[in-house]
Amino acid sequence: MSHEDIRKKFLDFFSARGGAHAVVPSSSLIPSDPSVLLTTAGMQQFKPYYTGEADAMADFSAKNTVSIQKCFRTSDIDEVGDETHLTFFEMMGNFSFGGYWKKEAIQYGYDFITKEMGLDIEYVTVFDPEKVPAGDWRKNGVPFDRESYEIWKNIGMPEEKIVREGIDVFWGPTGNEGPCGPTTEIYLKNANGQAVEIWNIVFNEFYCDKDKKLTRAKTPGVDTGMGLERLAMISQGVKNIFETDLFAPIFDKLNSDLPDKIKRIVADHLRGVVFLVGDGVRPSNKEQGYILRRLMRRVITYAYRENLKNSPEEIMRTIVSEYHGMYSNLDALAIEEVYAQEYAKFIKSVGVGLKELEKLTSVDAASAFRLYESYGLPYEIIKEVAGTKAGRLVREEFDAEFKKHQEISRAGVEKKFGGHGLLLDTGELKAGTPEEVAKVTRLHTATHLLQYALRKVLGNEVKQMGSDITAERARFDLSFPRKLTPEEINAVENEVNAVIASDIPVIMKEMDYDEAMKSGALAFFKAKYPQRVKVYSIAGVSRELCGGPHVEHTGEIGKFKILKEEAISNGVRRIRAAIK
Ligand code: ALA
Repeated sequence: MSHEDIRKKFLDFFSARGGAHAVVPSSSLIPSDPSVLLTTAGMQQFKPYYTGEADAMADFSAKNTVSIQKCFRTSDIDEVGDETHLTFFEMMGNFSFGGYWKKEAIQYGYDFITKEMGLDIEYVTVFDPEKVPAGDWRKNGVPFDRESYEIWKNIGMPEEKIVREGIDVFWGPTGNEGPCGPTTEIYLKNANGQAVEIWNIVFNEFYCDKDKKLTRAKTPGVDTGMGLERLAMISQGVKNIFETDLFAPIFDKLNSDLPDKIKRIVADHLRGVVFLVGDGVRPSNKEQGYILRRLMRRVITYAYRENLKNSPEEIMRTIVSEYHGMYSNLDALAIEEVYAQEYAKFIKSVGVGLKELEKLTSVDAASAFRLYESYGLPYEIIKEVAGTKAGRLVREEFDAEFKKHQEISRAGVEKKFGGHGLLLDTGELKAGTPEEVAKVTRLHTATHLLQYALRKVLGNEVKQMGSDITAERARFDLSFPRKLTPEEINAVENEVNAVIASDIPVIMKEMDYDEAMKSGALAFFKAKYPQRVKVYSIAGVSRELCGGPHVEHTGEIGKFKILKEEAISNGVRRIRAAIK
């Protein structure tokens, strides 16, 4: 079955079941919860529905949801190149927030695989605390999942095919805390006769706090995840995910005589690049940007060494055209431009870096980090190119060197700016006299309204990339792939001015960071926040983590005007605005 048919079958199947599932589009790869770097599971966008802070009925007019979610898992980056691992993949999932429970969830899983897809289940797993090592937090108070066991038995699964497992079948939480619980997994046989995990059906019975303490969940719910690529592999009867129709168009562009491992890495990493850039990530030395940079540089290195018959740009165009129907935010030109900039930066040093690497007789964490620092060679390339010379090099030690270096440079920055000039308590605001402070304060609240209006007009994918405010004007940078139209600029201005005209109170509350995140407050994802934070809310409009200061009522801002809109780098727009 083609991947298009599988997608449709899955969404249709759940739309018609369990008192209906609302079909919800994939959320961005940059999650709204900044305690996690990237979206790794379908349930992340639904976290507030499990904790009872949000109501699915109110937001989706349905009790349950179904989605096909873009996911990115850095934890698997070293495995990419084998037959099943990917960094970027799509996860199909159905979700219940206090609605249906184990009996229905397992029955749906069984019916979908055996009846809709016409496939045989090889075996399933259930959670058993006996299999969890002593002292592990997942042992405390979590009983054997007898209910799931019995449900599978009643469906007709032979008992020897209901396998008891430990920590592998306990899922979550994502980030510091959140819903979690025992799972039951479905395994199918692939064309090589190996059993492959296809579907993870999670029962969020617990809430795990920051100290790994488990309490019963207020709204026990179902969260499932099935890898689209893996299901396509089984359904299409091919030996690995790279032979599915999801990868075939990409592989057609790669030299057939390249080693499999390189073909797979290039294909995986370029998909990752396309989707990360599409969601507004730009290469940098930090966080999401650092992940993107490593993917790009690994591909650039292969392109440099292997003489690819099609350029990475050409392959990315293929990926965009393949996925554009499903993800309309993918803009091939914008993605190529970001790639071209990184290429220009890295190509100057990659050759020299590789030569330096060749000269070394053995490579440890310190020398690997020097190669990264001087020539931009990422860990993955060093490890691979150095081969046995880097036999003892492990990622953890390299990361430790990296962190040590970041701490040294951060201390340097603090020393340079410490105790100077910051009259207002966020570094982005600049004011000297009390008049200037008053003006900057008004502009500052206006930027919160601007962020709201941009997201309303252009979509929630828009992310703040930076801001800078003086008494004359506010500057606001956002991730967005193209120039705003005059109509859009007008609409944004009108939204801001409408909120100003409504004269809504601006309310500040201090709370714990985690509580703020749970409340859905927007945070500037690059920033590091202390444990106690201030949240500024404008009812029905905006809720942001912010140091302040702000006006008391939006009416104090005056009239808001956008002066200019321009690109400052690929995919990043800068807006200048003023108030009268
Ligand atoms: N959240 C579960 C997973 O990612 C379904 O495996």
